[in-house]
Amino acid sequence: MAISKKMEKALNAQINAEMYSSYLYLSMASDLNSKALDGFSSWMKTQAQEELYHAMKLYDFVLERGGSVVLDTIEAPQTEWKSPLAIFQGAYKHELLVTSLINNLVDLAIKEKDHATNNFLQWYVKEQVEEEASADEIVQKLKLIGSQGNGIFMLDKEMGARAPLFAFPTGE
Ligand code: FEO
Repeated sequence: MAISKKMEKALNAQINAEMYSSYLYLSMASDLNSKALDGFSSWMKTQAQEELYHAMKLYDFVLERGGSVVLDTIEAPQTEWKSPLAIFQGAYKHELLVTSLINNLVDLAIKEKDHATNNFLQWYVKEQVEEEASADEIVQKLKLIGSQGNGIFMLDKEMGARAPLFAFPTGE
């Protein structure tokens, strides 16, 4: 059974939200880079890749269910933040918003008795628990160590160890 038009529209909106998340985190990665925090920046670039993956999972699901993907304008994200703490507080706040969007989609799937979409969305419900927790953990660490001194450089090194989801080809 194909998804309803209403569900198709809602899933398309979520594709846009995930693409925006990727944009936002790329913008945060750039600002972290300009703050000489290369490890934080690299972590955030990987986060942006994850968001692209979230968008693509939805993209494939819409097509698999007989719907159409209609891509909309991606809003321009903020470009500068006052501190690494402000960046990760922003990321945490954004993840809370994404969780509420996912929950709304689940509500719609339940309302429509669309079990397949509900089942698909449970992956995102679980993922959001991790997404919120990882952003919040960094917020807490940053609060503990402050923005100056040795602590931030050690945390930067730790953050830089996160492997990318995929690597782009290098060389000429
Ligand atoms: Fe796609 Fe970070 O939620």
